[in-house]
Amino acid sequence: MKKFNVAVVGATGAVGEEILRVMQECDFPVNNLLPLASARGAGSKVAFKSKEYTVLELTETVFEEHDIEIALFSAGGSVSAHFAPFAAEAGAVVIDNTSHFRMEEDIPLVVPEVNPQDIAAWRNRGIIANPNCSTIQMVQALKPLDDIFGVVRVDVATYQATSGAGKSAMEEMVMQMKDFFAFKLDESPHEKFPHQIALNVIPQIDRFMENGYTKEEMKMVNETKKIMHKNIEVSATCVRVPVLRGHSEAVTVWLERDVTAEAAKEALYNGKNIVVVDDPKDSLYPMPITVVDRDETFVGRIRKDIYKDNVLHLWVVADNLRVGAATNAVRIAQKWIEMEYK
Ligand SMILES: NC(=O)c1ccc[n+]([C@@H]2O[C@H](COP(=O)([O-])OP(=O)(O)OC[C@H]3O[C@@H](n4cnc5c(N)ncnc54)[C@H](OP(=O)(O)O)[C@@H]3O)[C@@H](O)[C@H]2O)c1
Repeated sequence: MKKFNVAVVGATGAVGEEILRVMQECDFPVNNLLPLASARGAGSKVAFKSKEYTVLELTETVFEEHDIEIALFSAGGSVSAHFAPFAAEAGAVVIDNTSHFRMEEDIPLVVPEVNPQDIAAWRNRGIIANPNCSTIQMVQALKPLDDIFGVVRVDVATYQATSGAGKSAMEEMVMQMKDFFAFKLDESPHEKFPHQIALNVIPQIDRFMENGYTKEEMKMVNETKKIMHKNIEVSATCVRVPVLRGHSEAVTVWLERDVTAEAAKEALYNGKNIVVVDDPKDSLYPMPITVVDRDETFVGRIRKDIYKDNVLHLWVVADNLRVGAATNAVRIAQKWIEMEYK
């Protein structure tokens, strides 16, 4: 079986580290691994398949010099904007975790459980975009419902972990918790979030747009339509909560056809990479602490609306660093290999 020269851009970050773990666990066919970061992270070491690799600095020529065939980017939008075209020009397929290319018309935006066929458009620019973490887990849960009942509208409120904003954001929350127990929370700085996140809930992720929604909320609106190839109405409220890892979502789904909770559960049981955990009498439902390090999206609290027969309510939880980033990127790469080399 062919093996590939793989670059991981942002290999020292929260998502980059997880990409290495996921590739190792699924025995991704790696020939040479090239971990890349900025001048700051260059020189540090990462482990992959019991070997140690030195992180190199990202440059415009590094992809050509190392004959890279697959480049996984997670180092921020401006880094992808500048360097991804150099990787594509050097002949690699770029799988980009940032929001930079997602809504460009000729760039496929892919969740392999939902729209794997879109990967074929990678040839347009050599780039495939990975959606926003909150969008990925939501569309994975919507897909099996859409296939049977037809989704027309979604109202969602998210409860997003601090790791969604990177390693330093997790550290900021931990530091604030320490400061709380040292009775000096008032002096604890906040840089990654607009307010203190420890012991708090912040109804703002990313900046506000002119329409009163945040950029994160509009990502969920626009990306859902692009991935599902359907003009689904989406209304989102994105909230940061003091959780380290695992995004939760309260999702209300409006359907074309009437539904029962049992029929919805049956559809979700058959969904790809979906795990249904829904046993209220034993207080069983998905929670962030039970999804860490898992590659599936968990759904519970499945119930029909009290007033409308075509409306469902769900609770959807997934590991944002895996399902919402690394696992989705690696699954795209696996699907790309399947399509290009088999
Ligand atoms: N966290 C999530 O749940 C999630 C989900 C989906 C998508 N994303 C996206 O993935 C990207 C990375 O997120 P993260 O959470 O992994 O952030 P992070 O923990 O802050 O890591 C950032 C990584 O990018 C590298 N980097 C920063 N500036 C660079 C530059 N100029 N050149 C080369 N490398 C550079 C850093 O390397 P140094 O060691 O050199 O600083 C580090 O490896 C972001 O665009 C984010 O929006 C994140």
